[in-house]
Amino acid sequence: MSATFLTLQPRPGDEIDPSVDHGIQAIVSGASTAETCNTDLAAGPWDFDARPGYGPGSSMGDVIPTGAPRQGELPAEYRAASEDELHARIRAAKAALGERVVVLGHFYQREEVVTHADYVGDSFQLANAALEHPDAEAIVFCGVHFMAETADLLSRPEQAVILPNLAAGCSMADMASIDDVEECWEQLEDIYGDLTAPDADGLVPVVPVTYMNSSAAIKGFVGRHGGIVCTSSNARTVLEWAFARGRRVLFFPDQHLGRNTAKAMGVPLAQMPMWNPRKPLGGSSADELDGARVILWHGFCSVHRRFTVDQIDKARAEHPDVRVIVHPECPMAVVDAADEAGSTDYIRKAIAAASEPTTFAIGTEINLVQRLAAQFPQHKIFCLDPVVCPCSTMYRIHPGYLAWVLERLVAGEVVNRITVPADVADPARVALERMLAAKP
Ligand code: 13P
Ligand code: SF4
Repeated sequence: MSATFLTLQPRPGDEIDPSVDHGIQAIVSGASTAETCNTDLAAGPWDFDARPGYGPGSSMGDVIPTGAPRQGELPAEYRAASEDELHARIRAAKAALGERVVVLGHFYQREEVVTHADYVGDSFQLANAALEHPDAEAIVFCGVHFMAETADLLSRPEQAVILPNLAAGCSMADMASIDDVEECWEQLEDIYGDLTAPDADGLVPVVPVTYMNSSAAIKGFVGRHGGIVCTSSNARTVLEWAFARGRRVLFFPDQHLGRNTAKAMGVPLAQMPMWNPRKPLGGSSADELDGARVILWHGFCSVHRRFTVDQIDKARAEHPDVRVIVHPECPMAVVDAADEAGSTDYIRKAIAAASEPTTFAIGTEINLVQRLAAQFPQHKIFCLDPVVCPCSTMYRIHPGYLAWVLERLVAGEVVNRITVPADVADPARVALERMLAAKP
């Protein structure tokens, strides 16, 4: 008899349920022997909205910055509704709104939310999907805060971008605050002199590069200082763009994407000092900074930091033909031990393109891995991390919040709108436009 379960390593004949939530509920009820990093994940996210912190899941141990947006109380009717009732209400609200609304779902989003999305994709694809609907009054972004901000930057001013739960931030993006980045820039000015003055080769001392996973304020900073945005798909192209204009790059917030990309381009590790905003000169010496090619901000993703070389060794021991693909937000040793590293869309396309039944061990967020395992039953697809530990911030968006924001729209009210102020939006757009122009 086939079983439906949350798979870490699917067995032949098992029917795979794409819902991570169902798997976690089964773990908590004792119906599944799999393991989760926090049994609180089985509770409704509204149980955590009133408290500071990222809530249960992979980012739970990270420090939430003061002033991070908080979600107000979700009305009781949505907290009490069954899954079936919420699905029915979401469908009815979407039908009533028709073309007036577009619902976007990130790859890491819960299956129960993704099932209602008009588009499912990575953060940049989704921001672009908004562009394809210039007449939609509202874009409901089921992702995290920086993604909704990017959609606001790229959409028309009349369009409202809505984040169903305001507490869905990104702990990595939050690790680079605008104040800390401004302070870093001032310290670099003390070391390198005028940061706008090109040398005899026409290169400025430092070009700032920010990963898409950063606040609009950081994108604006980068735009104002001759810098550029990158994604995990185009980081190499963007670093080439930056090296054509500067002696060095200041890369934030993700040290791992910066290190993995620069290393693949041949930059020695000794020329990649870290910048820890809690330490004077970022914790590096003036000499180290002088010889730097890439200064790496001390940021990381708590989801991707869970992947280890031991997990890869185990997967290879158990499945000698396994193909190991990890996201470049994983630590360098993990990327080096994997067969391939690539963005969420790269991982999805690599699996879709495999013509023969293949065993894949994947190093990225569990909601995407679980969905891919269900979508491609001809392959054996499992997550390298044996513990079910979703991105806690993505997990804050539950169908209850989606039903709430959509029903408010039907009633003529826009709630949870994300708006980037014009003084930030203009330079942030410049940094994004440079990225688009740098595309090979
Ligand atoms: P994408 O840019 O591939 O959507 O990834 C976003 C993210 O948060 C990865 O951890
Ligand atoms: Fe941020 Fe990591 Fe979650 Fe992506 S997976 S949204 S980088 S915390």
